[in-house]
Amino acid sequence: MDRTFLMVKPDGVQRGLIGRIVSRLEDKGFKLVAGKLVQMSEDQAKRHYAEHEGKPFFDDLVRFITSGPVFAMVWEGDDIVALARIVIGKTNVKEAAPGTIRGDFASHTPHNLIHGADSPESATREAANFFAPDELVTYDKSIAAWL
Ligand code: TYD
Ligand code: MG
Repeated sequence: MDRTFLMVKPDGVQRGLIGRIVSRLEDKGFKLVAGKLVQMSEDQAKRHYAEHEGKPFFDDLVRFITSGPVFAMVWEGDDIVALARIVIGKTNVKEAAPGTIRGDFASHTPHNLIHGADSPESATREAANFFAPDELVTYDKSIAAWL
């Protein structure tokens, strides 16, 4: 089973959209295996967005992502890295299609509500920036053992 790292950005937390975003990911059939609210440090933010270091929008991005708590998550599912990015929608809110999280809820770039890792390697690296290995749980969703 594949895993990806997703994160509700400070705008999503501020707007009270954590629940609805998590709901959409659950509706899609993905399985939540880790989640927590984090106030990111500047160093942690720079590590998270390391691939964008030196680009003109980098400083603003670090300022935005550290402006309030984020809701960091790891999700599981077949081909989830690519699939989750489809559910999230395009980076630029003008290109994010209706039916996607960004298309339905975001109206400003770069305040586009949610981050999604862009490759399995990024997902592993980004998850490790937030979670210790023992914070990722393993469980079977198809069996309700208490029934
Ligand atoms: P990127 O990794 O390209 O997008 P995504 O979040 O879809 O993986 O960029 C990271 C964030 O940086 C993006 O969500 C919004 C912001 N950003 C800008 O502000 N200006 C830009 O030109 C780009 C490419 C991104
Ligand atoms: Mg990206």
